[in-house]
Amino acid sequence: MTARPPAAARRPPASDRSTLAVLASGTGSILEAMIAAGLEVAVVVVDRPCPAEERATDAGVPVERVGRDDFGPGFDREAYTARVVDTLRCHRVGTVAMAGFGTVLGPGMFVAFPRRVLNTHPALLPAFKGWHAVRAALEAGVAVTGCTVHLATEEVDDGPILAQRPVEVLPSDTETSLHERIKSVERELYPQTIRRFLEGELP
Ligand code: GRF
Repeated sequence: MTARPPAAARRPPASDRSTLAVLASGTGSILEAMIAAGLEVAVVVVDRPCPAEERATDAGVPVERVGRDDFGPGFDREAYTARVVDTLRCHRVGTVAMAGFGTVLGPGMFVAFPRRVLNTHPALLPAFKGWHAVRAALEAGVAVTGCTVHLATEEVDDGPILAQRPVEVLPSDTETSLHERIKSVERELYPQTIRRFLEGELP
């Protein structure tokens, strides 16, 4: 008779930092840059049908749609967050990179993944937090804006900064042209910073 392995050996493997999930809702160009940079993405989680979902599928990355049924004031953020956390746990995720995810997640996310959720924001934080960071920078008339990769916390667009790059604002810029120039920098900076994080070079 073969002896049963000890309980610890029967348990599914614990998640580790290097198992990466990406959360996206938009065009997914940053997700695509991560994949092109050779980052191994274990799963992409989306909150709605979006081009990011198709980009992941085309790249052969598993996609989970944790759909929101409510975009109004009655939205149960904690219940939704719990569904996202459960999905990530099913994939044994250790690090979560938000890349244009359109839902603000509740505290449960940061309890489940302490210091393990990264975000990229299209401004030089702490300036211009929020959904309309590019428009706000243009309206403020700044000569330079940029992008920030940071550890996400319960406070939106807050948390320790891991990397930043400046982007010059041109007199002819519209919100779209400026955002596109910022995104081209994010597509380089975010994958690089994620790799350094996964390799333990960053806290
Ligand atoms: C990026 O500018 C990111 O900073 C912001 O959403 C944008 C995502 O772009 N949070 P894409 O959908 O990957 O093209």
